[in-house]
Amino acid sequence: MYNAKAYSAASQTSPLEPITIQRRDPNAHDVQIEILYCGICHSDLHQVRNEWKEAMPTVYPCVPGHELVGRVTKVGSSVTKFKPGDLAAVGCLVDSDRTCPECRAGLEQFCPNFTLTYNFPDKHLGGVTYGGYSDSIVVDQRFVVNVPSNLDLAGAAPLLCAGITTYSPMRHWGVTKGKKVGVVGLGGLGHMGVKFAKALGAHVVVFTTSPNKKDDAVRLGADEVVISKNADEMQKHVSSFDFILDAVSADHDINAYINLLRRDGNITLVGAPDKPLPVAAFGLIMGRRSLSGSPIGGLPETQEMLDFCGQHNITADVEVIPIQKVNEAYERLLKSDVKYRFSIDMASLKSE
Ligand SMILES: NC(=O)c1ccc[n+]([C@@H]2O[C@H](COP(=O)([O-])OP(=O)(O)OC[C@H]3O[C@@H](n4cnc5c(N)ncnc54)[C@H](OP(=O)(O)O)[C@@H]3O)[C@@H](O)[C@H]2O)c1
Ligand SMILES: [Zn+2]
Ligand SMILES: [Zn+2]
Repeated sequence: MYNAKAYSAASQTSPLEPITIQRRDPNAHDVQIEILYCGICHSDLHQVRNEWKEAMPTVYPCVPGHELVGRVTKVGSSVTKFKPGDLAAVGCLVDSDRTCPECRAGLEQFCPNFTLTYNFPDKHLGGVTYGGYSDSIVVDQRFVVNVPSNLDLAGAAPLLCAGITTYSPMRHWGVTKGKKVGVVGLGGLGHMGVKFAKALGAHVVVFTTSPNKKDDAVRLGADEVVISKNADEMQKHVSSFDFILDAVSADHDINAYINLLRRDGNITLVGAPDKPLPVAAFGLIMGRRSLSGSPIGGLPETQEMLDFCGQHNITADVEVIPIQKVNEAYERLLKSDVKYRFSIDMASLKSE
């Protein structure tokens, strides 16, 4: 074991503060990574503040962060995928049972025995796993992916959660040229959804509650922008969408979007508000529309997404911050005031 620097929350009402944590020395299949950038996902905030207490209660101290990119510093004797000096990235998963049908299909996000990057039982050291708000991490090579060398690293970090979480359902639901696709909520996930839908050739409509994001939405690739509080603007799109991605982090009326789907259209929830959302039966019944959810993505698809980003030069639009500004960043995230993902420059942790 060795000591690593990190930022953690001591309780659901505490700010994030410096802490020293222990990491395991790399085993045969492990890769040790010096973390260079870590994105701030709204899930980090939900988890730190114990907002998902029913589904995933938080164990404190909690070191969040599941959008990590960095450089390999050491590898175990059986590691073939990486060598010291390589770029490497880790997302929301650091382990799974590898033997269940989901793992064998490369869909580790559905493994009943997966280990999430933070706040999950740590099979090696006991306690819970600690995430990427840290200077280093040790992860089995199966759960480490390659970063295309042309990508800006600060902007690449958010691909590991915001990227794969929006790419995966779009691929699953067949977003291609000629499809009309909606993206609800222009935050970290939403802005990646816009970039992917555009790159996949769809006609993209952004739904936002923030009128000041209209120009950005167009710059990011939207063909149309709808201010969702405006009923007339919403009405113009009734029964017209093939697919809608809902990336809203808070309570909102999902029925307003179900009504915008055409026959057999699908709306997929990737946003995870803490309270249940009421659904009107007739919105789904009429038009045989469907409502689904989607969690992150498996390792093969995560690599596919990163390669796609390499080919299309896609990264997140980031505001790079030192870790000392993380608490301020959380407050801004709550106000939908981020363009469009915070990425922590982990060099700032050296001064702690
Ligand atoms: N399914 C998964 O695997 C997965 C993975 C990662 C994250 N998530 C979840 O996805 C959600 C979004 O994460 P994020 O990191 O993208 O968050 P974010 O950057 O904070 O973006 C959320 C966006 O939702 C909109 N919004 C916020 N409050 C709203 C309200 N009261 N009514 C309507 N719209 C509102 C805002 O967009 P506008 O300003 O444009 O309206 C905001 O920018 C979170 O709940 C997160 O936990 C799920
Ligand atoms: Zn996330
Ligand atoms: Zn499995």
